[in-house]
Amino acid sequence: MSKSAKWSPKENESKRLPIYQHKSKLIQAVKDSSFLVVTGETGSGKTTQLPQYLREAGFCKDGKIGITQPRRVAAITVAQRVAQEMQCTLGKEVGYQVRFDDCTSQDTVVKYMTDGCLLREVLADPALSQYSVIILDEVHERSLNTDILLGLIKKVFTNPAKATKGRSFPLKVVVMSATLETDKLSAFLSNCPVFAIPGRTFPVTCTFGSAVGPKDLENFTPSALQVVKVALDIHTSEMAGDILVFLTGQSEIEHACDMLFEKAECIDYRYDVTDQSVDGLLILPLYGSMPTDQQRQIFQPPPPGIRKCVVATNIAATSLTIDGIKYIVDSGFVKQLNHNSRVGMDILEVVPISKSEAQQRAGRAGRTSAGKCFRIYTKEFWEKCMPEYTIPEIQRTSLTAVILTLKCLGIHDVIRFPYLDCPEERFILEALKQLYQFDAIDRRGNVTKLGELMVEFPLHPGLTRALLKAASLGCQDLLLPVAAMLSVENIFIRPGHPDKQKEADKKHRALAAKTGSMNDFATLLNVFQSCKSSDRPSAWCKENWIHWRALKSAFSVETQLRDILHRLQQKKDFPVETFDGNKSELFRRCLCTGYFTNVARRSIGKVFCTMDGHGSMVHIHPSSSLFDQEAELNWVIFHDVLATSRVYIRTVCPIRYEWVKDLLPKLHEVDAYELSSVAREEVTAEEMTKWESREAAKRQSEVSNEDAM
Ligand code: CDP
Ligand code: MG
Repeated sequence: MSKSAKWSPKENESKRLPIYQHKSKLIQAVKDSSFLVVTGETGSGKTTQLPQYLREAGFCKDGKIGITQPRRVAAITVAQRVAQEMQCTLGKEVGYQVRFDDCTSQDTVVKYMTDGCLLREVLADPALSQYSVIILDEVHERSLNTDILLGLIKKVFTNPAKATKGRSFPLKVVVMSATLETDKLSAFLSNCPVFAIPGRTFPVTCTFGSAVGPKDLENFTPSALQVVKVALDIHTSEMAGDILVFLTGQSEIEHACDMLFEKAECIDYRYDVTDQSVDGLLILPLYGSMPTDQQRQIFQPPPPGIRKCVVATNIAATSLTIDGIKYIVDSGFVKQLNHNSRVGMDILEVVPISKSEAQQRAGRAGRTSAGKCFRIYTKEFWEKCMPEYTIPEIQRTSLTAVILTLKCLGIHDVIRFPYLDCPEERFILEALKQLYQFDAIDRRGNVTKLGELMVEFPLHPGLTRALLKAASLGCQDLLLPVAAMLSVENIFIRPGHPDKQKEADKKHRALAAKTGSMNDFATLLNVFQSCKSSDRPSAWCKENWIHWRALKSAFSVETQLRDILHRLQQKKDFPVETFDGNKSELFRRCLCTGYFTNVARRSIGKVFCTMDGHGSMVHIHPSSSLFDQEAELNWVIFHDVLATSRVYIRTVCPIRYEWVKDLLPKLHEVDAYELSSVAREEVTAEEMTKWESREAAKRQSEVSNEDAM
């Protein structure tokens, strides 16, 4: 096949996209205005085509075109697709950058990246001087980082005095959104013009099921079985066309795929299926942390006669468009990181999606022809349990990391920052308080030396704090692997089959036992080191039921974190401390420096009580090596919290009360309001002294209470 013959279908394909007819008008609109809002149905070609149009129109002469995505998978797969359309090697003219994976070069002019990556670039170069165009994409998803970028862009680039500072030519900003809210976006960005790409959609018939009703809301753990049943029904009784199933997360998806595979094997295609042109089922999982080569498969059309069934997280709702989907199975749930004010922590929760989200999911079936959407929940569930709209992330997650970024950018008054939708003030205060507890800001709300070091790491501030403590004690080799392991997808394989699950559990327990001191962080370290020193690491993983590719990325992440640390250690004021004691204690003490906000003490039986002032009741998650060892524990720290029927703590480590005794009072020491600049202006010196003596007295009594326990 000649090269041109091979590529021409792709070219025609892109000419068939709705955006194509508006190409010249769109280019003109970008030329005419510094800010532009572009809207259009998902799949109309915004993400893949607009950057190419702008490049053709000469926008890359002065600088790069940067396109942000809230999700890493979207950034990577879209860059792959565009590189293919432009017939160039990925990483050359077209590249991508996501956390811990930079696939760009000197030649890159069209750069797809996560919003988090652009935020880091702003830190290093607030004028974004390398870029001629910034496209903030998928703004309707309202991810935390995209919202912050929007605010920063408004603050800097809508102000003529600041907009040209550090730049030799003006920046163009395009904001793309799949839905509504365009008026709000335009108003936010100095009433800029809105360009709407008319959509082409086909009707989708939606039916409600009976598997999930309002009474399931409290105790719902997403059962893969229910969606598998519906998917199989579609496969056997509906006409040809691909299926897209929405589930909540990696483990449910893998479980559902295993079940589907098993059941599909038993189908007799001569008798069991209605559409006789269908003679096979291709089952493909899709979730955020999947390896890229597997993700690419998702977009390929299935072989003739084969029906494709993609089992995905919410990622397939807007960021990625898979052609050929005719049927949707909607579980009605999504896994979301929410700040839970009842327990005072960020919790990974499985929650009902909003009605608008459900409509978006259904819409995926109507791109090329009429489709059908099968909801596994009842009409009553829809009416009573599903909210109208999804709450923006900025209003429901911890703001600690972004507030530190803003502070490092010199934005002191973080309460009056231009937010598209303001987070609740108490969330901002909570973040300031946490930064103070980690010594990242001082009592006046100014960034400390440590805070400046912390912002360099793309990790949760607590984990960074522990890592920096270890580095100052010269034992970073203990913490770097742990930080890396906690930054990649789950490394432990949990097979769906009960026998295999037992075998895997046994291996995992053995890995934990090898560390001597049952501690989930130490297990992570042990897995990392054992695999790294093994002659055949992939075989080692297979034998121990560990995801080899997850571990491979952990190796790469560890190297990158090591490089960042090494660069920072060259600075002359990098802290240095000493410690004498054994290695296990040293390791756990370092962890305590970052995790003293996540301390729990055993209360009765297997129940633990958090020490952050909320006193929430939590349980050790069954995946922990300390599960069923509760009786021997008194004090623990934990990495994160998962809420299903109970509130579970995961990645747990036993500690001694003495190690956190001096740190715990810090949790109650400061009134967060005092840390915000607003409060500072209002508080007089006299009031301040009074406040300080009152706090000191409170601290004293708290410490003696703790001692009494
Ligand atoms: O951004 P928007 O939702 O408007 O559309 P897009 O992501 O640019 O998608 C345009 C077309 O490219 C769709 O038909 C997608 O299926 C296709 N596409 C693909 O085949 N592979 C990708 N990795 C990304 C998009
Ligand atoms: Mg898009």
